[in-house]
Amino acid sequence: MKAHTVFMVQRSKSSPAWMHEHVNDPYVQRAQKDGYRARAAYKLLEINEKDKLIKSGTLLADLGSAPGSWSQVAAKLVGPSGQVFALDILPMERIDGVDFIQGDFREDEVLRQFENLLGNRPLDLVICDMAPNMSGNAVTDQARSYYLCELALDFARNHLKPGGSFLIKVFQGAGYQEYLAEMRSLFQTVQTRKPDASRNRSSEIYLLGKNKR
Ligand SMILES: C[S@@+](CC[C@H](N)C(=O)[O-])C[C@H]1O[C@@H](n2cnc3c(N)ncnc32)[C@H](O)[C@@H]1O
Repeated sequence: MKAHTVFMVQRSKSSPAWMHEHVNDPYVQRAQKDGYRARAAYKLLEINEKDKLIKSGTLLADLGSAPGSWSQVAAKLVGPSGQVFALDILPMERIDGVDFIQGDFREDEVLRQFENLLGNRPLDLVICDMAPNMSGNAVTDQARSYYLCELALDFARNHLKPGGSFLIKVFQGAGYQEYLAEMRSLFQTVQTRKPDASRNRSSEIYLLGKNKR
C-alpha cells in the first residue's frame, strides 16, 4: 500500500460528515453510557478479552493516553495491586489508580520524568495508542507516526520485563514491514489485531508483541 492511501480518508473533526458519523456511531453512544472518555475503550476491551493482557496486579504504561479511555479500562482491570503509568502531550483529567505525566514523548526530559515515575520497576505491559497531529501531508504524517512508534518500541525494550507484552497502533503503509521486523526481533510472537471498534476505512492496525525476549 502506498503512503498516500494512508490518511486520505481522515475527515476533519469539525466537518458535518464527521459529526454525523460521530453522533450515530454505536461505540460513541456506548462510551457515553458506560462512562468512558472515548470510543477507543472498546478497542482495548476487545483485544484484552482475547489476549488477557491486563489482569489484577499488572504494571503497565499507557503512551498517548489522553483523553483517557484506555487508562480507565486499564486502571479498573489492574486493581489496587497493579499500577498504570500514563503519558500524553495533552492534559488528561485525573483517573484513580493512574499516575499521569503531561509532556511530549519525543523529548528526553519528558522521558526521564516518566522513567522516574516508574522508579526502575519493570513493566508487564506497554500499550501505545499515540498518533501525531495530522498535517494533511500523508508522507510526513506517516513518518511522524513511525517515529513515535520507534520511540515507543525503544521504551518497551528498556522497560518491559522478559516475557512482557507490547500493544501498539500503527498505520499500514510506508515503514510497516520494517517496523514489524523490528518487533519480531524483540518479541517471540507478533500478531495483528483489528478490533471491531477500529473503523474499517482506517489503515490503523494494532500490533501485539508477546513474550519479550
Ligand atoms: C488516539 S489518541 C489516544 C486515545 C487514548 N488511547 C484513549 O483511549 O483515550 C492519541 C494520543 O496521542 C497523543 N500524542 C501524540 N503525539 C504525542 C507525543 N509526541 N507525546 C505524547 N503524546 C502524544 C495525542 O495527544 C493523543 O491524545
